[in-house]
Formats: sequence, structure tokens, C-alpha cells
Amino acid sequence: MHNIGVLGSGRVATTLANKLAGAGHVVTVGTREPARAAARWSGAHVAFGDPAEAARGAAIVVNATPGETTVERLGALREELKGKILIDVSNATLRGQDGLPSGLLYPGSSVAERLQGALPETAVVKTLNTMLFTVMADPASLRTPPTAFLSGNDEKAKAVVGRLLGDLGWPADWIEDLGDVATARGPEAVMLLVPSVMRRRGFAPFALALAR
Ligand SMILES: NC(=O)c1ccc[n+]([C@@H]2O[C@H](COP(=O)([O-])OP(=O)(O)OC[C@H]3O[C@@H](n4cnc5c(N)ncnc54)[C@H](OP(=O)(O)O)[C@@H]3O)[C@@H](O)[C@H]2O)c1
Repeated sequence: MHNIGVLGSGRVATTLANKLAGAGHVVTVGTREPARAAARWSGAHVAFGDPAEAARGAAIVVNATPGETTVERLGALREELKGKILIDVSNATLRGQDGLPSGLLYPGSSVAERLQGALPETAVVKTLNTMLFTVMADPASLRTPPTAFLSGNDEKAKAVVGRLLGDLGWPADWIEDLGDVATARGPEAVMLLVPSVMRRRGFAPFALALAR
């Protein structure tokens, strides 16, 4: 059992916080408006606080907020995130006229690397950004077994995150450890595929899968 802070109260945060709390973890949702988020919440029992409070009380923090502003906002939580594992599921893109991703915000780098640079005393682990949010906590819902990629410099932190993925429903052989944090460039670039998939298939659940 871990104390987990989930930053954000949107689709991804709600999905992950509910499943992790249902698995027995103590979850605090870190939101800009704790009272409003609490009033809207349905599902497993979680606590609410502002992002700094949620990070301060947790051993593991999940970033489920917009990737475009993540580095600046989480960089300001350096003290609160010191010594912690930070699971980053965000994507950071430029937007086309239709509002869909049209390019990467950090070409030649990634949100995860920028975060690790801004938070040197935090173990950043990138995962789960290559799928629709529904799949993150219900991977067996797809006809083809999806893949959860892991990128991060700290092997122990990745092992902890691998076990948390298990709590979210991921069998060990559906998890692919790519290597250090720079390997997050690959999974983050999957966002270049997403608009084409969504234009053709709408918001139907999907995920990237490594076929072997
Ligand atoms: N949706 C997916 O299927 C999916 C899949 C893979 C990855 N992701 C990534 O996961 C992250 C969250 O996605 P989502 O779909 O859950 O987004 P969302 O529904 O829009 O929720 C994002 C949440 O972030 C919080 N937030 C904090 N600072 C913010 C700011 N400056 N502007 C706007 N919101 C802010 C908000 O919570 P409060 O208002 O409570 O603070 C908001 O509810 C994104 O980085 C996204 O790229 C999403």
C-alpha cells in the first residue's frame, strides 16, 4: 500500500485515482479546486488537496495534467517532490486548427526528460501515455493485448511503478521497460499518430502494442 498523489481531476486522473484507491492505496487528488472536485467525485474513496498538498503527503505522485505546462508547474513543486517517484503520463503537443495535436512541443527531447532535468532529486518514470485513458486501468478491454512502456533512470522506481501497473490490471509481460528517461521520446512521439487515428475512428479505446 502506498500514499499516492494524483495531480489533476480530469479523465486520466479520475480513472487512475479510482482504480488505485480501489486496489487499497491511499490516494489524494491534487486539484486547483479541491472543493469542486470533491463535490463532483464518484467512485472509490479519495482525499482532495491542492497540488502541493497532494505531492507533499505522497511517496508516489502521478502527473495527469496538461503536458504543455507540466514542466513549469511541477518544477515549482521541487521541494514537495524531492525523494519521490513521479509517474508522468502526460503528452505535450502543438495544436492544429482542429484542436488536435499537430506536432511535438519538445522535438528532440520529451516532457519526461525536461521534468527529470527540472526535478533532479525526483525519480521520473514515464508510462501509460500511449493509449486512451480507459485502457490505462482496463488493459484487458482491448482485443489485442496493449503495451505499457516504462522510461526512467531509476531502476527501483521503475520496479515500483511496474507493480502499480499490476494493480491497474497490467500483466507483467504487457509491460516493456525501454530504458532511461531519454527513451520517453519514442512513446511521447506516438502522439503524432493519435490525430489520424481519432479522425478515422473517433474516441474508441486504443493503445500502442508491440507485436512479437
Ligand atoms: N485523455 C487521454 O485519453 C489521455 C491519454 C494519454 C495521456 N493523456 C495525458 O494525460 C494528461 C491528462 O489528460 P486528461 O485527458 O485527463 O485531461 P483533462 O481531462 O483535461 O484533465 C486535466 C486536468 O489537469 C488539471 N490542470 C492542472 N493545471 C491545469 C492547467 N494549467 N490547465 C488545465 N488543466 C490543468 C485540471 O484539474 P483541476 O482543474 O482539478 O486542477 C484538469 O482536470 C494530459 O497530459 C494528456 O495529454 C491523456
